[in-house]
Amino acid sequence: VSYGQSSRGALIVFEGGDRCGKTTQCRKLVERLRSQGVDAVMWRFPDRSTSIGQAINAYLVEQSHMDDAVAHLLFAANRMEKREEMLRLLSGRTTLVVDRYSYSGVAYTAAKGVPHLSMDYCRAVEVGLPAADLVIFMDMTAEATAARGGYGQERYEKVDFQQKVMKAFEALRDERWAVIDASGTIDDIHQKVAAVAEPVVQRALAGSALGRLWD
Ligand code: TYD
Repeated sequence: VSYGQSSRGALIVFEGGDRCGKTTQCRKLVERLRSQGVDAVMWRFPDRSTSIGQAINAYLVEQSHMDDAVAHLLFAANRMEKREEMLRLLSGRTTLVVDRYSYSGVAYTAAKGVPHLSMDYCRAVEVGLPAADLVIFMDMTAEATAARGGYGQERYEKVDFQQKVMKAFEALRDERWAVIDASGTIDDIHQKVAAVAEPVVQRALAGSALGRLWD
């Protein structure tokens, strides 16, 4: 496992509010990269298949109650338990297209406004994970996503909370983020995604250094 400069896969993360269309775009990007001969796989966080992920799922569907700090730490642990596998795949030149990552972890908890769960605290528990080479942020207002089907089924799918999440995401943006208007058609959005993702994949394969959270 190396953070140095050697040919590797790219870590591409999709972020955004609930129901913004991230999952569809992740799938389409993976298909496109594969059709170009790039080794790519799709992951998502939370990964609800592990025992930590099952506890998170029960929390999200409101079958269980948890202290906010415990929920935050479980989301982070759910990424940590996949850390070695992520690094192994990336160094084996597999590009990972990930539906939500540490940026969601920080934004959703920070949006709760719990004084002891500051943005700095939220970030700190993600240290040790690789940083995304590219964060594709699917931009859409909380009101617009709320109008989409299936909204309101899980714990965080409430317009006033989603507005706070959007503000928290804004505070996390840096030069590795590409903000894409998520209100267009699936194909229009896909073209924009491809235009920002493909050069990043090529740079990683050519040997760009993998970053660390939160350098
Ligand atoms: P997800 O399974 O991606 O659901 P959706 O397809 O509706 O976006 O995420 C489930 C919820 O978990 C979502 O409201 C965002 C939240 N979340 C966190 O609070 N912290 C995290 O670290 C992650 C990855 C997600």
